Amino acid sequence: MDSRLRSQADALRWYHTIDLGQGVVTRGVDDTPLRLGRIDFPRSLHGRTVLDIGAWDGFFSFEAERRGASRVVATDHFSWDGGGWGSKAGFELARTTLGSRVEDIDVDVMDLSPGRVGTFDVVLFLGVLYHLPHPLLALERVASVTRDLLILETVVDMVGINRPVMAYYPDRDLNRDPTNWWGPNVPAVHALLRSVGFTRSRTVTALPSAPYRAARAVAHWWRGKNGLERAFRQDRAAFHARKGAETA
Ligand SMILES: C[S@@+](CC[C@H](N)C(=O)[O-])C[C@H]1O[C@@H](n2cnc3c(N)ncnc32)[C@H](O)[C@@H]1O
Repeated sequence: MDSRLRSQADALRWYHTIDLGQGVVTRGVDDTPLRLGRIDFPRSLHGRTVLDIGAWDGFFSFEAERRGASRVVATDHFSWDGGGWGSKAGFELARTTLGSRVEDIDVDVMDLSPGRVGTFDVVLFLGVLYHLPHPLLALERVASVTRDLLILETVVDMVGINRPVMAYYPDRDLNRDPTNWWGPNVPAVHALLRSVGFTRSRTVTALPSAPYRAARAVAHWWRGKNGLERAFRQDRAAFHARKGAETA
């Protein structure tokens, strides 16, 4: 193991768990390799351009590059400008260590436009939607920079209700985090995607069955982690959406 790299990495606060090589894996709070397995990430991105919105430490940007993308642009704002508990230092250390050519733009989701960042074959919008007070407007911005495929991952709520609805999280209602605003249910995500111009969308994560969710809710409630109803209704899900006539 490279002990200099180990101490450089340990001096930073990481969100992502990234294998930097030389035996060093960042101690991220997020099990990112596990989440990678849940978004149906295309095995090859050969020759495709990729935009990673809310990239933070850049795990998914570096993974897109590793899978052959011809150009990858990582964007973020909140975590990179020091407003949250993170910074851009992890992204920069990882990019240098991995010898990556991923580009970066500090831009708020609400300021995304073809004029500002261009358009991309594949857009990653992972773990960001529920942090935004204006989700439909944000998705319009995201759609404006997507040429073909959008991969969206989000908190979902109201699971089991068939009509498109969203849960609103005032104050610190979700995970005691004031940056969480909305949890759409799965039908709402598809409806939102349609509203902003995606002609096809599919859910790529299978949500656990109702009996499993019920058992999990009881376990959460027992440990004082969450109320029964909430734990039953909340989850995370990933979606692929496309604009063209091609099958998603
Ligand atoms: C939960 S993290 C997800 C990071 C990464 N996309 C992933 O899935 O692992 C949420 C990210 O969204 C970013 N974010 C939140 N609000 C934003 C905004 N208005 N504009 C740009 N980025 C934002 C945060 O800075 C943070 O990097």
